[in-house]
Amino acid sequence: MTTRVDLVAGARPNFVKLAPVARALSEHTALRARIIHTGQHYDAALSGVFFAELGIAEPEVSLDVGSGTHGEQTARILERYEAHLLRSRPRCCVVFGDVNSTIACALAASKLHVPVVHVEAGLRSFDRTMPEEINRILTDAIADLLLVTEPAGVANLRHEGVSDDRIALVGNPMIDTLRHFLDLARARRRAGQLGLARDGYGVVTLHRPSNVDDAPTLRRLVGALREVAERQPLVFPVHPRTRQAAGAAGVPLEDGVRGGLLVLPPEPYLDHLSLMSGAAVVLTDSGGMQEECAVLGVPCVTLRERTERPVTVEVGASRLVGSDPDRIREAHADAIEGRWPEIGSISLWDGHAGHRIAEALESWLSGVVDA
Ligand code: UD1
Repeated sequence: MTTRVDLVAGARPNFVKLAPVARALSEHTALRARIIHTGQHYDAALSGVFFAELGIAEPEVSLDVGSGTHGEQTARILERYEAHLLRSRPRCCVVFGDVNSTIACALAASKLHVPVVHVEAGLRSFDRTMPEEINRILTDAIADLLLVTEPAGVANLRHEGVSDDRIALVGNPMIDTLRHFLDLARARRRAGQLGLARDGYGVVTLHRPSNVDDAPTLRRLVGALREVAERQPLVFPVHPRTRQAAGAAGVPLEDGVRGGLLVLPPEPYLDHLSLMSGAAVVLTDSGGMQEECAVLGVPCVTLRERTERPVTVEVGASRLVGSDPDRIREAHADAIEGRWPEIGSISLWDGHAGHRIAEALESWLSGVVDA
């Protein structure tokens, strides 16, 4: 019986979640991780630099699917991963998060009766206009083992009728990576390199289709960001999707400083963590950054109406403000003028989720009969 376990990653946040699981599997189990890179993200700034900095082994398999519409991208991943599974069948397929690579590989594996494990299962925004929400619901519906980061995920899965023996609350592997690299990241002093004082700046990111693909929304958001940047400098590493959308909408977002807004290309992991850890405030629509802020103790002004990560709101780290300039201004002012509440800690976000995932996987696989 093979001990090979496929770990599937495709997009930037997947790499951050995969790294501690790959490490824990190699250190603590007899299982052998085989890394599959779908190629959903392919630019060095979104992919290669993450493998290098996080110490992830080169992928054994690259599917090289590239960009496309949802249908094109998902279909290419499905077809190419299926072909790979038919050539070389693993003991199980582990997928991460909620990107197109997650659902496509889960579906290919499930149809071939390769057991599917979903890391970051159960999260729900209850907003089906988000492509990620569709990916989450579908992946959880076909996954065999559901590994969950926060209590709401367990409640959602139970509500959907998943039996308890398929669910495990394991904590958050993205936070393992943060804790592992935080000292190294701080030592890079990225803010200082950019001429910014610790606690004297904010960090902003935007990439959700609902915020960037609609020109009036993007224009309103960038206008609000330029306004708050007049109070305190804001660093804005711009995702390629946002760069393209800004170009198409005629919103000026070229690299460089204008007013208090410093626009940059996407930052590598360590520089980005360095920047976030010294920030007075983060403004973002990224789910991962909401989580990272909760652990760093940095107020997170969340540029969304809903979150699938409610624990970040419950502990006081994240405040949902949508794309409304008044709410953005008000939350930003609360953060930089000391009116943000104390941020509480989150159980199991302790840097050891990777080990718990490896243990859960090993003990679960010992009870699974090969198809
Ligand atoms: C994807 C995920 C999103 C995740 C985000 C993290 C889905 C549905 N979306 O969104 O959940 O939060 O990754 O970054 O899976 N592009 C490049 N270089 C690349 C990759 C993409 O320039 O390496 C450009 C392409 O023009 C592409 C666009 O960015 O069309 C969007 O990329 P895509 O992977 O489709 O979605 P993201 O917005 O990155």
